[in-house]
Amino acid sequence: MTNLRLACIVGARPNFMKMAPLLKAFEAYEGVETVLVHTGQHYDKNLSDVFFDELDMRRPDITLEVGSGKHGQQTARVIERFEEVLENAADEGKPFDRVLVVGDVNSTMATTIAAVKLGIPVAHVEAGLRSFDRTMPEEINRILTDAIADMLLVSDPAGMDNLRDEGHAENEMVLVGNVMIDTLKRLLPKARRGDTLERLGLQGDCYGLVTLHRPANVDTAESLGPLLDVLIATSEKLPLVFPIHPRTKQRIERFGFSEKLDAAKGLLQLGPAGYLDFLALSSQSKVIVTDSGGLQEESTVLGIPCLTARPNTERPITVTEGTSTLVGNNADMLRSGLAAVLDGTYKTGKCPKLWDGHAAERIAKVVAERAEK
Ligand code: UD1
Repeated sequence: MTNLRLACIVGARPNFMKMAPLLKAFEAYEGVETVLVHTGQHYDKNLSDVFFDELDMRRPDITLEVGSGKHGQQTARVIERFEEVLENAADEGKPFDRVLVVGDVNSTMATTIAAVKLGIPVAHVEAGLRSFDRTMPEEINRILTDAIADMLLVSDPAGMDNLRDEGHAENEMVLVGNVMIDTLKRLLPKARRGDTLERLGLQGDCYGLVTLHRPANVDTAESLGPLLDVLIATSEKLPLVFPIHPRTKQRIERFGFSEKLDAAKGLLQLGPAGYLDFLALSSQSKVIVTDSGGLQEESTVLGIPCLTARPNTERPITVTEGTSTLVGNNADMLRSGLAAVLDGTYKTGKCPKLWDGHAAERIAKVVAERAEK
């Protein structure tokens, strides 16, 4: 029988939908004990708490409450506090055998560093993704996490190639598929049964959905302003729904863009949405404009056109096989992408292999089997 005490890490919004199916999948393995650790990188109710209820995920067993801060500060706090958790567990005679991390946020990298330095091996879900853009904090997190994790669980074939190029051995990596899509497939019927569209006065296929939060798009007036201008102009033809990330909200206010956004009648500004509302919105939209990593993948599975406001992507399969097009931080490219969607000439895509709703089961099997060896 497997005997495995596994610390499962979440920190920021995109981690929750990946960890929820993993916790469930491990329940099938007697002898595997999961301990859910929340670093507290995201702490707002609508960036964190709401997901535990909606994803039907148990509350964290341990919280580190690190909060926001500069990168060094936030990362250091996670390392310091998680190291203590690991050491205390060992002192109490209940040491962790392995740590399971997902995605590419600061909490992913920081907990990996703390664990590996104490000799505790780390499995990384969503390993191998590379944008080859080292100005992105997430790219640094991905590279560092994969360099020291010993189990690299990969969502698409390009990720396997990237890891090979970085010198990883075949026995370190497994193509398991996309665990975030497990959650999407499970909750899509429920999301669509809800009254999200009605509440917002929207009709399916008659609106666009916008999210923007990457520093490269929102941190300067020069990058954010022109994107907002295209969206405001588009909203006269196609209503747009814009759930606004706290970071983006602060910047909009700081740069004095609130007034022109408020004046755009077709642009519906919301706070960050919960998972079910958001899935209801994304799955029934005509087009998605985003700089989110996860949403590029979700739109591909949903078959919804996605204009990705980034110059590059660590998820190239969403462009080559899926419905995404990179429009960079370029207002003209965004405008012409939106025009192609509106005149019906935008491409169609297909769903990548192993994005089938069963990735968590494959991951649990690999992790549990490794523990037996
Ligand atoms: C983080 C991740 C990013 C992910 C995103 C999803 C890193 C480097 N970035 O970015 O990959 O796509 O989460 O949302 O890990 N804030 C709040 N409430 C909160 C958390 C943050 O208001 O609960 C505000 C704070 O002002 C904070 C800012 O948002 O300074 C940024 O938060 P932070 O966790 O540093 O990064 P995100 O931009 O959310």
